[in-house]
Amino acid sequence: MCGIVAYLGPKQAYPILINGLRRLEYRGYDSAGVALLNSKLNVYKTKGKVADLEEFVRDVDISGTIGIAHTRWATHGEPNYANAHPHFSQSKNIALIHNGIIENYAPLRKELETRGYKFESNTDTEVLTNLIEDIKINENVSLFEAVRIALNQVIGAYAIVVIDANDPNSLIAARKGSPLVIGIGKDDYFVASDATPIIEHTKNVVYLDEEEIALIKRDSDLKIKTIRNKEKTPYIQALEMNLSALEKGGFEHFMLKEIYEQPSSIRDSMRGRLHAEAGSVSLGGIIDYEQKMVNASRIIIVACGTSWHAGLVGEYLFEDIARIPVEVEYASEFRYRNPVIYESDVVIAISQSGETADTLAAIELAKSKGATILGICNVVGSSIARATHAGSYTHAGPEIGVASTKAFTAQVTLLTLMALRMAQLKGTLTKSRFIQLLHEMERIPEKVQKTLEVSKKVIEIAEQFKDVRNFLYLGRGYNFPVALEGALKLKEISYIHAEGYPAAEMKHGPIALIDEEMPVVFIATNKGTYDKVVSNIQEVKARKGKVIAIVTEGDVTVRGMADYVIEIPETEEMFVPLLATIPLQKLSYHIAVMRGCNVDQPRNLAKSVTVE
Ligand code: AGP
Ligand code: GLU
Repeated sequence: MCGIVAYLGPKQAYPILINGLRRLEYRGYDSAGVALLNSKLNVYKTKGKVADLEEFVRDVDISGTIGIAHTRWATHGEPNYANAHPHFSQSKNIALIHNGIIENYAPLRKELETRGYKFESNTDTEVLTNLIEDIKINENVSLFEAVRIALNQVIGAYAIVVIDANDPNSLIAARKGSPLVIGIGKDDYFVASDATPIIEHTKNVVYLDEEEIALIKRDSDLKIKTIRNKEKTPYIQALEMNLSALEKGGFEHFMLKEIYEQPSSIRDSMRGRLHAEAGSVSLGGIIDYEQKMVNASRIIIVACGTSWHAGLVGEYLFEDIARIPVEVEYASEFRYRNPVIYESDVVIAISQSGETADTLAAIELAKSKGATILGICNVVGSSIARATHAGSYTHAGPEIGVASTKAFTAQVTLLTLMALRMAQLKGTLTKSRFIQLLHEMERIPEKVQKTLEVSKKVIEIAEQFKDVRNFLYLGRGYNFPVALEGALKLKEISYIHAEGYPAAEMKHGPIALIDEEMPVVFIATNKGTYDKVVSNIQEVKARKGKVIAIVTEGDVTVRGMADYVIEIPETEEMFVPLLATIPLQKLSYHIAVMRGCNVDQPRNLAKSVTVE
């Protein structure tokens, strides 16, 4: 996920590009760069924010009426100068900006290397740039044609804009999986990841469709083809939204936008890793440490807050399907407890920001005792990503809302993939069961999409309970961490006191709280300990508690007992957290909005906790 802006027209491009980048900075902000074409194609880029780029270009030639610009959210290669976009091709005749992931970049890069190409960065993007150049030279075709042919060889997601050093009158743009919109002005063109940089210049836009490629030419009409070479007629529409709504993708808050991004962020977490047809899971980042994991005496997961909840789901997963013992530790407790750590332990540190001080300290401690440390981080090149021996990025894209939503489901997705990979290597599942699980996992993004459709019911429940002072969340097995996460989400953003508990623990204390005022959220899906949870619901009803139940589609038993029921699609027990979390995120969101709370920046909280 990153920000793309491009301009072609009679005006100076740089001020338009830099303004556009500033508007897109919420999409990613680890490095920034610009390519401007006058008599020469100049590329300027730097690690850091757009302001750093502005500083960087203070004394250089920034003239030109055509240019492309980028703010990066790294997926391949840490944020530094070499990895920042735009990427030049080897001859420096082409420069390209890219948003997305080229899954098959490794074999493509190898192939290009054997043909003499040298690479300056670790990105997947530079591979695409040189692939285009290679095709253009070898097949002696136009740049447009070379881009089109190259995109047919690429697996993954992309939004790209390409500029040719020898053609000051054209830009080429294409997309698949990542967004791209073209603005059509009076005598100029704009290209961007979303319409925020465009709206101040023109309201007429064309949203590129999947696998479409556009030729943007000075003083000419826009031409669009599919990458399979089918002509398309551009569909020009008028923008109606205001700027702040656009930034949030039309949603009222970043948190809501991020909740709704989950079908695609989960898909991005699985991208290139889950191969249901081939019957395998591959996690490139930890491949050298797989045997260590297989032989580990135990896995210790360290994390804080929501990431710790993801870790708890990981405990169920690794023990259940890969038969590896797991301990899940609050990083802040672990670091001061003088814990017993063996060299045969594998520690997995989970962190969205990759900067959480306690998690970082726990890593250093475990490292000093000789354990192997793996990371699951969202922010590429973050301190935790660098402190670990190896790891896998969640690829959820920037999370702006302080309350973590899509990062949590991405972490759970990654842990699920890791556990499945371990199960594959250890042979703890039968082949047919393993394949069955992979196919079901592949369907999760579409089931998440379906789960997101429960809005009306959730709003009705939020309306009913927005003024209460306490909430209880109960679940068992895989749904116990879901209960904890549901409660944390509510207290963080609505300031209502909420507790998550394993449902069976209720009678050991919290049951004393239950009266006709007390809402109790049960995650009561149809697998595992379902019957036991049904008994727990009865215990609450017997004390006149108000029951809100998350159930599997078609459930009748709980429906007959609960005051409110929210249905989620049927799935394997181990995937339920990825679905059941969604309505709980939405419930907290709507309650917080109804209470007039600042959803994206709740009081006293920070997005990354860099102090202990
Ligand atoms: C999540 O909603 C919270 N804001 C918080 O608990 C967060 O998960 C925790 O601070 C850990 O952050 P990290 O994942 O960036 O390490
Ligand atoms: N995969 C590319 C990179 O790592 C693009 C990332 C982005 O979307 O910003 O550089």
